[in-house]
Amino acid sequence: MLDDVEAVVLVGGKGTRLRPLTLSAPKPMLPTAGVPFLAHLLSRIRAAGVRRVVLGTSYLASTFEEHFGDGESLGLELTYVVEEAPLGTGGGIANVAEHLTSENVMVFNGDVLCGTDLGAVVNTHRHTDADVTLHLVRVQDPRAYGCVPTDDDGRVLAFLEKTEDPPTDQINAGCYVFKRSVLEEIPRGRVVSVERETFPGLLERGARVSGHVDNAYWRDMGTPGDLVHGSADLVRGVAPSAALPGPVGESIVLEGADVAKDAFVFGGTAVGRDVVVGEGAKVEGSMLFDGAVIAAGAIVESSVIGAGARIEAGAHVRDAVIGDRAVVGAHCELKGGMRIWPDVQLPPHGIRFSADV
Ligand code: GDD
Ligand code: MG
Repeated sequence: MLDDVEAVVLVGGKGTRLRPLTLSAPKPMLPTAGVPFLAHLLSRIRAAGVRRVVLGTSYLASTFEEHFGDGESLGLELTYVVEEAPLGTGGGIANVAEHLTSENVMVFNGDVLCGTDLGAVVNTHRHTDADVTLHLVRVQDPRAYGCVPTDDDGRVLAFLEKTEDPPTDQINAGCYVFKRSVLEEIPRGRVVSVERETFPGLLERGARVSGHVDNAYWRDMGTPGDLVHGSADLVRGVAPSAALPGPVGESIVLEGADVAKDAFVFGGTAVGRDVVVGEGAKVEGSMLFDGAVIAAGAIVESSVIGAGARIEAGAHVRDAVIGDRAVVGAHCELKGGMRIWPDVQLPPHGIRFSADV
């Protein structure tokens, strides 16, 4: 149990890859499998035995505190520290240093969905007497991440953030254990990137930086595709969480939702409060935020439908993000990464890929 370890969760980024969804909510508060995304991460931190968590925020900071309060409902003691202007990942960590007391501190990127055994990461840190230990995973395309080669002893050899020519498919999973004394060396009061400045600097001066590699479930929720697939994995129980509001299965349907008897809602779809799904509609592997309406006969696949948005009869939406309150008119067809900004209204037949109907 990690009851002698404190945690820091970084939730400061604007999440620009998820606009238009993040215009009104910070990315970690987007409803994911029925609860704000951050609840899943916090529940896993708590399940590992950690009690004290400091949230380092900068963007729409008050929304976190309004929802999670002092953390008691999660069994946590939550402290909020707000950056006046975003200080970057390293600056965000340094900015909360004065609130930490434990000898070792876990730090989490707040947008990662992960099934790793956190106790095992801390064990690696202790056994190797590391200054910092990084959780590492292997991915198909490492270019969007921090590439982290290690030697046979698990010692980190380099940290290459978002490089076009990564030497290995092993990447930084966004979960670290810091000796607090090392964390306290990060400069305060200015922008610091832990990936581009702190880790390369530690390696240069010969600090012991360990890698803990495993093949647990892992996904960065930064892109709409990852958000929607990660949410479906949570709903279906593929990604572990102690914060689901219902049993795992083909869908999670929150109270007040009205799903027609002959509608098909499956593939890990999360149906928010007061959503309406009409007759014969088909919704697969999607996120329907509170108050969204999927009219009769509409098809929604692997898409995020914002709060109060309407997908009118016979429309077909695939791999798209529909902003809050937007309207996709009857028989429109949207696909392949399209994003509709909040409040935009597409008229019936307004946009199609196939012949007229
Ligand atoms: N407090 C604070 N202040 N947090 C921040 C700031 C800031 O200025 N900037 C970013 N963050 C938080 C984000 O909210 C997110 O939770 C985390 O730091 C990482 O930022 P992202 O913007 O999501 O980075 P990324 O996904 O491109 O890359 C990072 O994560 C990858 C794994 O998911 C890097 O750490 C990569 O090395 C890593 O592979
Ligand atoms: Mg990220």
